[in-house]
Amino acid sequence: MIFDTHAHYDDEQFDGDRDELLERLHREGIVNLVNVGYSKASIASTHALADRYDFIYEALGFHPDETWEMEQEEETILPWLREQLTRPKAVAVGEIGLDYYWDKTPREVQRKWFRRQLELARELNLPVVIHSREAAQDTMDILREMGQGLTLDMHCYSYSLEMAKDYLNMGYYLGVGGVITFKNARKSKEVVEYMPLERILLETDCPYLAPAPFRGKRNDSGKIPLVIDAIAQIKGLEREQVEEVCLENARRFYGIGHSADVRRENL
Ligand code: NI
Repeated sequence: MIFDTHAHYDDEQFDGDRDELLERLHREGIVNLVNVGYSKASIASTHALADRYDFIYEALGFHPDETWEMEQEEETILPWLREQLTRPKAVAVGEIGLDYYWDKTPREVQRKWFRRQLELARELNLPVVIHSREAAQDTMDILREMGQGLTLDMHCYSYSLEMAKDYLNMGYYLGVGGVITFKNARKSKEVVEYMPLERILLETDCPYLAPAPFRGKRNDSGKIPLVIDAIAQIKGLEREQVEEVCLENARRFYGIGHSADVRRENL
């Protein structure tokens, strides 16, 4: 039983076989997945997936590259996002953060909307999925200032072991996916070796970041067992234990499972 904590099944790479693939994955043990809506268009297509499939939940927010959309609708965009997040299957704010690799949106605009979306997550008492690329220090500075006490996932964690220790001390989770299976992923392997199993969130980020031997191909949740095997090997554990503990981690992080059922009855 596997929970994919970060996927993009609304991506056009799945247009040819989306329904067939999702039905098969669910039958084969993908018990839950969170589809991440990261722009206005992708939030709409994420809603459609969550409406169609019981086992799919949604994380909603503006990716740093897409925060120009927020800037264009500065007056109305936060109330709009808040409204989307009241949907019963909306379980997190994300992916939000900073991306200085693509630099598709000015950095000060990224930082402004990263902060505002963190405030929104706190107001709504929702966990947060962070995207951070080539922006290690600014991400850390903003989270030290504004992230205290938030339930937070450093999605596809790719920074140093030293910084991982800081994030773990802050109580955060780290997302682990296909990269851990790459031969040159020395840093990621060090981080996984060091960190408690209880803080690992399994993810694909599909269609991207397929594990070896599928590197460069289209990824999907059915390839997570390769990630589990790599983690088990690095940590010297049984693969069943990794699978079981990571399922619990994902349910705890997103509040899905028994506690989520109770929460929804109470709404
Ligand atoms: Ni993503």
